[in-house]
Amino acid sequence: MTVVEKINQVPFVDLKSQYDSIASEINNAISNVIHSTAFILGRDVSLLEEEFAAYCEVEHAVGLDSGTSALEMILRAYEIGPGDEVITAANTFIATALAVTYTGATPVLVDIDPMTYNMDVTCMERAITERTKAVIPVHLYGQPADMDPILDVAQRHNLIVVEDACQAHGARYKGRRVGSIGHAAAFSFYPAKNLGAYGDGGMVVTGDGEIAETIKILRDVGQKEKYVHALKGYNHRLDNLQAAILRVKLEYLDEWNAARRQHAQLYNELLAGSQAVAPEVPDYAEAVWHLYVVRVGERDAIRGKLWDNDGIGTGIHYPIPIHLQPAYRELGGKPGDFPITERYAERILSLPMFPELTPEMIAYVVERLNSLLPA
Ligand SMILES: Cc1ncc(COP(=O)(O)O)c(C=O)c1O
Repeated sequence: MTVVEKINQVPFVDLKSQYDSIASEINNAISNVIHSTAFILGRDVSLLEEEFAAYCEVEHAVGLDSGTSALEMILRAYEIGPGDEVITAANTFIATALAVTYTGATPVLVDIDPMTYNMDVTCMERAITERTKAVIPVHLYGQPADMDPILDVAQRHNLIVVEDACQAHGARYKGRRVGSIGHAAAFSFYPAKNLGAYGDGGMVVTGDGEIAETIKILRDVGQKEKYVHALKGYNHRLDNLQAAILRVKLEYLDEWNAARRQHAQLYNELLAGSQAVAPEVPDYAEAVWHLYVVRVGERDAIRGKLWDNDGIGTGIHYPIPIHLQPAYRELGGKPGDFPITERYAERILSLPMFPELTPEMIAYVVERLNSLLPA
């Protein structure tokens, strides 16, 4: 059997091989929680909050039940609501916009920078009105948005900056951890994320103690003291079981991110001269490669062939920009509104990316991809 035949199955992500590598630690952590019966806001939640805050180099962290809730709770804590506008990128996961909508505010979408796929700061500034209260830069694919110009514009217009770091655990911008740069940041622990739970989970990090305190109250049905409800809060608590799992996995995050970085470098080297356009990382960024996204023509046909003929799993992040989603018809978006986002949505292809990938797998993916592209 040739090497290529042996690896003739490269999944898009492989959560099982990661679990296998740390199974006994994970099983212990789960068993300890079950034996303690501390399922709701137990010790692991508060320890994870401390550990994740330290990891992100911020003062406060609050565990939530998802990244979506984390975004929403930040906006609510800053009292953003009906009549307000919040600017974000048109090419993000829909949850970024949904969190804005849940508060009663209106998401205002803008186009992206063609190199980084992140919010174009010139477009952002043009979108500001007297109703604009906040801006949500998304560190998409694990690549930090260019925060300095964003912060500069935000400061001049008195806007709250909420980092959507749901895809970027551990990334750095000019040496600073993402999540430590804006007023507050949201992380997702969806299983396939760089730091993923075994179910849903999320976290807010912030340097603002008052905001952290408000979010702690909001996430727990508005109570600070049992059955005394200061606010009309929500049930958005992080599960203690998930927190215990995440505490084990946090210890490995840097190692796993380093592996992703190596994989990205090998993809870049092997894709040199290919018709597939490889991602570029600006000097200011240390990306963590949640996704490795190339651009190709005939994307859908290529994607189908990679799976059907070669057993290679791929993804599209995301095929339909927010302004063209049926759920956001109310925004009145139409084709042509955000040309770069729309052009990219037809061409982007996320290649397999997870820490346990091997160089052979990457070589196989690139070889098969190139075989489907014009020379
Ligand atoms: C950019 C972005 N924002 C928000 C979210 C929402 O996170 P969750 O799925 O944990 O609610 C995700 C992840 O799914 C995401 O990728």
